[in-house]
Amino acid sequence: MKEKIFIEGGKKLSGTIPISGAKNSCLTLMPLSLLSEHALTLKNVPSLSDVDTMNSLLKSLGCLVNYTKSEKRLNLKMSDQTLFLADYEIVKKMRASILVLGPLLARFGQAIVALPGGCAIGARPINLHLMALEALGARFSIENGYVKGKVGSRLKGCKIEFPFKSVGATANTIMAAVLAKGSTKLLNVAREPEIIDLCKCLKAMGSKIEGEGESTIIIEGVDSLLETAHSVVMDRIELGTFIIAGAIADSDIKLTGGNTALLEKFIDKLYRVGVEVHQTKDYISVKRINSSAIKSTNILTEPFPGFPTDLQAQMMALLSIAEGVSIIEEKIFENRFMHVPELIRMGANIEIEGRKAIISGVDKLKAAPVKATDLRASVSLVLAGLVAEGNTEIDKIHHIDRGYEDIIEKLTACGADIRRH
Ligand code: UD1
Repeated sequence: MKEKIFIEGGKKLSGTIPISGAKNSCLTLMPLSLLSEHALTLKNVPSLSDVDTMNSLLKSLGCLVNYTKSEKRLNLKMSDQTLFLADYEIVKKMRASILVLGPLLARFGQAIVALPGGCAIGARPINLHLMALEALGARFSIENGYVKGKVGSRLKGCKIEFPFKSVGATANTIMAAVLAKGSTKLLNVAREPEIIDLCKCLKAMGSKIEGEGESTIIIEGVDSLLETAHSVVMDRIELGTFIIAGAIADSDIKLTGGNTALLEKFIDKLYRVGVEVHQTKDYISVKRINSSAIKSTNILTEPFPGFPTDLQAQMMALLSIAEGVSIIEEKIFENRFMHVPELIRMGANIEIEGRKAIISGVDKLKAAPVKATDLRASVSLVLAGLVAEGNTEIDKIHHIDRGYEDIIEKLTACGADIRRH
């Protein structure tokens, strides 16, 4: 795959961009195939390298995988030859691999999953996943970089209170509890739309779940699950990213297939910095209010419904050209400012103090050779490149393929001068 993106900045964008199915929802839904002997069909599945990685993982566990790219349809069905080992070679590519742990334990009573380890944005432990699955009756040992889980007979429903909200731990626990004996009450769970999507699909498979989207979820375990087809919710992070593309390039663009209701805090912040996002029946439009300059604001990343950490880097690119000083505080991950040195290379004025980034807006960003370090960092550099003076060269761009379907094509169709070599 070509490793660099080149962007000639300063072009006005105009046109329509379709929003794809949510990467994070897909990665959470795909392990549901392990929970049933019947087929699971997912629709609106984006073509992304993270989806390919999860497919490889499921295949290695004995799942039959069939993805039809033209129809964005993914068929998954467990074969009779189940394996229980999630190998490090796959898990190290993607932390979401840990999401097979709950389903394997719930249906087969055993699982060996490589520890995901740290990543560019922080240590990202899995203690909450293990704590909750242990409460349901699983027993764990850690050996040679692998977590080995076993269940005596069947998981047993119970009450679990999470000390803080974790999207992944919530998902893993829900997937395990749907096949547990009896009732499970989960307190202080994540409320993200991707968790609601997971529960919607699980309910269509015959699970009994109440309270998704709230802080408490109650699950009544069932013996087995049914065949189903489910359409993946739209990608709110991709939507937010393209909204910032329109805003930073001072352009009028339209986005189809999106839903601003899943991004209220973000849309509210954009309004405050001078960008109007308007949802009609057919599309979402983005434009600067009175074509004025971007204003500064302060951002705190929080669990849903707060400002999403996955839009923090993109928002920083926008605020780097705002009038005045903005502060972004990253409350979810301890090391999610990898894009800052790269934005500084492009002329941004940003200082980091612990978990805060202080952004003093500059008149102009200037093109520079920069390097992508993770998924959202890489797209923040693309956004900066859209408005920077000159030709921005972004290296290590494979990160962007993890989560942005056809991003070059989508931006090119709106008039951006962006190429991949
Ligand atoms: C998911 C998303 C990711 C997003 C993140 C926060 C997927 C595939 N990924 O990641 O894009 O940035 O939510 O919205 O959906 N933590 C622990 N112990 C645990 C689990 C988490 O300490 O057992 C910590 C993490 O290190 C982090 C915080 O909790 O600081 C939140 O992480 P979590 O919500 O679990 O994120 P992921 O599910 O990994």
